[in-house]
Amino acid sequence: MDMSHGANAKLNAAASGTFALGGDMVVNRLGFGTMRLIPDGAWGAPQDREGATRLLRRAVELGVNFIDTADAYGPQEVERLIGEALAPYRQGGGLLPIVVATKGGLARMGPAKSEPLGRPAYLRQQVEMSLRYLKVERLDLWQLHRIDPKVPVEESLGEISKLQAEGKIRHVGLSEVGIEEIEQARKVVPIVSVQNRYNLFERKHEAVLMYCETQGIGFIPWYPAAAGKLAAPGSKLDGLAKRHGVSVTQLLLAWLLQRSPVMLPIPGTSKVAHLEENVAAAGVKLSAEAWRELRVLQSRDEL
Ligand SMILES: NC(=O)c1ccc[n+]([C@@H]2O[C@H](COP(=O)([O-])OP(=O)(O)OC[C@H]3O[C@@H](n4cnc5c(N)ncnc54)[C@H](OP(=O)(O)O)[C@@H]3O)[C@@H](O)[C@H]2O)c1
Repeated sequence: MDMSHGANAKLNAAASGTFALGGDMVVNRLGFGTMRLIPDGAWGAPQDREGATRLLRRAVELGVNFIDTADAYGPQEVERLIGEALAPYRQGGGLLPIVVATKGGLARMGPAKSEPLGRPAYLRQQVEMSLRYLKVERLDLWQLHRIDPKVPVEESLGEISKLQAEGKIRHVGLSEVGIEEIEQARKVVPIVSVQNRYNLFERKHEAVLMYCETQGIGFIPWYPAAAGKLAAPGSKLDGLAKRHGVSVTQLLLAWLLQRSPVMLPIPGTSKVAHLEENVAAAGVKLSAEAWRELRVLQSRDEL
């Protein structure tokens, strides 16, 4: 691991490099996920509203300009929080835009209880609600949270295509999809991003990642830090991380960033200290030796 660009380098998400979503919406590749700003199960309002506001603003101060959310977080509570904390979405003295990616199409019925809901009228209502809570006239990136097996994707995305034509959505993405589904969706509307569960030890979407890479589609791995499960002392990455002078979460994030130029990790946290630690991963470059050691661990043990 080359620590000259390591965790002690200038703390800024810009060190992760940039990616142009849809070819024209440039973001720093290391983003921030907001699901963890509310209690487990994505149900209810933030317990510490001021703390969550500070955290979002600190992320922006640290150069994070790609923020992932969803209408289903709360529901709508996290979008409302983001709107209050960050609108009108500028950073760097007001010069640079902050891109907020939201999602719709997953109805939230209770703690950790949700169901795909892709009926056009519902999607339209949810887009209108996202616009209202995020305090914007156009959503930068709207992602179909899940394809509803009961509704043809052409109908769901047909409505989204109309909303795009009406100027209410700039770019469209998908979540938890395979290559066939992406290709089916692309017949209806241009797709600029795919958000699937993926991390060092969970790589069932490797083929989707490769597809995204060849097509210039952003790949947004959710669960990028394995929800902090490996960060505890004594985990299987603990020794390797210590030897290379980084934290386990930094190791996981640096691996993702180095894995592909279309990778846009969105680690989530409720704590400023963890946010700062995670942003520092933007500047960590893994050495060939560290990369090899990680490969060995990967081949032994998928999560
Ligand atoms: N598309 C989808 O279906 C989908 C599903 C789930 C999530 N997402 C999105 O993906 C984002 C990230 O996914 P995720 O939240 O499931 O997983 P994650 O980012 O891998 O893990 C977040 C958890 O890890 C802990 N953590 C973060 N940084 C840490 C650090 N440096 N040291 C120790 N623990 C740390 C956090 O706890 P602390 O609060 O204690 O730091 C938090 O509970 C979400 O916020 C959401 O935006 C999308």
